[in-house]
Amino acid sequence: MSSNDSSPTAAADTNVSHDRDQDPASADAHEAAPQPEDVSRPTPEAGGQSPVEPSANIGVVGLAVMGSNLARNLASREGNTVAIFNRSSDKTEHLVQAHPEAEFVPAFSYEDFADSLHKPRTAIIMVKAGKGTDAVIDALVNVFEPGDIIVDGGNALFTDTIRREKAVRETGINFVGAGISGGEEGALLGPSIMPGGSDESWVTLGPILKSIAAIAEGEPCVTHVGHDGAGHFVKMVHNGIEYADMQLIAEAYDLIRRGTGRTPAEIADVFAEWNTGELESYLIEITAEVLRQTDAATGLPLVDVILDQAGAKGTGAWTVQTALDLGVPVSGIAEAVFARSLSSHPEQRAVSRELPGPSASSGTEFGVTAQDAETFIEDVRLALYASKIVAYSQGFDEIRAGAAQYGWTIDLGAIAKIWRGGCIIRAQFLNRISDAYAQTPDLPVLLTAPYFVEALGRAQDSWRRIVSTAAAAGIPAPAFSSSLSYYDGLRAERLPAALVQGQRDFFGAHTYKRIDKEGTFHTLWSGDRTEIEAEDTH
Ligand SMILES: NC(=O)c1ccc[n+]([C@@H]2O[C@H](COP(=O)([O-])OP(=O)(O)OC[C@H]3O[C@@H](n4cnc5c(N)ncnc54)[C@H](OP(=O)(O)O)[C@@H]3O)[C@@H](O)[C@H]2O)c1
Repeated sequence: MSSNDSSPTAAADTNVSHDRDQDPASADAHEAAPQPEDVSRPTPEAGGQSPVEPSANIGVVGLAVMGSNLARNLASREGNTVAIFNRSSDKTEHLVQAHPEAEFVPAFSYEDFADSLHKPRTAIIMVKAGKGTDAVIDALVNVFEPGDIIVDGGNALFTDTIRREKAVRETGINFVGAGISGGEEGALLGPSIMPGGSDESWVTLGPILKSIAAIAEGEPCVTHVGHDGAGHFVKMVHNGIEYADMQLIAEAYDLIRRGTGRTPAEIADVFAEWNTGELESYLIEITAEVLRQTDAATGLPLVDVILDQAGAKGTGAWTVQTALDLGVPVSGIAEAVFARSLSSHPEQRAVSRELPGPSASSGTEFGVTAQDAETFIEDVRLALYASKIVAYSQGFDEIRAGAAQYGWTIDLGAIAKIWRGGCIIRAQFLNRISDAYAQTPDLPVLLTAPYFVEALGRAQDSWRRIVSTAAAAGIPAPAFSSSLSYYDGLRAERLPAALVQGQRDFFGAHTYKRIDKEGTFHTLWSGDRTEIEAEDTH
């Protein structure tokens, strides 16, 4: 039986159960699932003593898709013995039976789980983010001791992780929020891992996580991102960038299809070709596969029978909400999130279908001749590349701003490196980002690094042609066009923000600064319209 210094009241003391349940898709989905007390477990021996001896160096709680694959990954690495526990015992039993080679140490109570682990105990939680995470933390805090380590590998909101870390730290137990990317396959074969938490936990956890992470160019895709919620923050932005990347690819496909009339299978060839160049990435690779797929039932391209309403689990929205709070324009990511929202309002789309578009007489009929098709497709490729640079630049900007706001020291180049393998946005391109930060660690805007300046210069004309062609033809390309606007906004000598300041001063006396002298000013708009010095009210 574990000696439980934390006592049964520790869970209440840790105060981890202030659930924000920020995973919209997860809310209460498991309310009907059995509670821990319902789960059948071996009867403890007389006197309440557990017969369990410690034999595992790492444990996993939560054995759905991600947890079971991560447990198998851990078990496959030299020197690891893995204890496993799941709220409902059937998943534990099934995993043990299905994978005898893993030699798992199954536990059917939190007490036995704790007892099966060597000290300091280390356990990775892989459960539904939100209430499930808090429930498991509360249970583990009751059976763990000071110095032990609880890792949350789920998709938690970073502010929840900050709260949980603070509460758990008060018990003397370490809490680490670790973003894990790569889905089911990544969890099994090697994910990209973004752990936060204390330096002390990293000493124990680092070697374990390095052993299971993906390897990119000889380096494990894991780094100690920063303290408390830093890991989940970076994982959140990773997902935001993923949204933007996917939307940009989707816009590229749509333009090529509607412009050239090529079939999905033919466009698959285009993407496969792109995957051999500077756009090489997992997302481009799988796009080719999806476009090549034929629906067995109808014989049609699968993409044509899939309902065109994109879902979301909420991490893209978190990235945008956080960026708004930080005042960081992540317009590419925001447009990607909104594009999914727009697609998922069939009632609005139905009543809007007959809204006027460009008239045939405007000469904007869209159609690329066969001989122009190759040039057009190359324009789309360059527009995609330029917009992608913008999306990543915006994402890294958000990480920089988040680090400043929350007091984390985050090595941006190291983040680019750990995204090169295991995760959904893995790409060659990330080497260029780590090079840029290696050259200039405090680079204020990623896209001003020499490599990207050259690439953006090369893409300029194509990018503009594609955005204007899409607008003239009435084809939505929100991520392409917002990326270009962001780019032009950054490079503008002067912005109409001056006029906005004038308007704000007119209706709200919000004051303004001048370009020619120090101070803060207000014009007496409803008086004689003279200018006075004023308090800075912003
Ligand atoms: N799926 C992915 O591709 C992916 C990728 C990266 C990260 N993630 C994150 O990884 C985590 C696990 O994902 P998943 O897809 O494997 O599983 P999931 O469907 O998100 O969650 C199911 C697991 O959570 C457990 N659970 C739920 N509420 C619980 C509670 N109150 N107490 C104890 N256990 C509870 C379930 O136990 P029962 O079996 O008893 O119901 C089950 O083991 C999530 O946070 C997810 O966001 C997922």
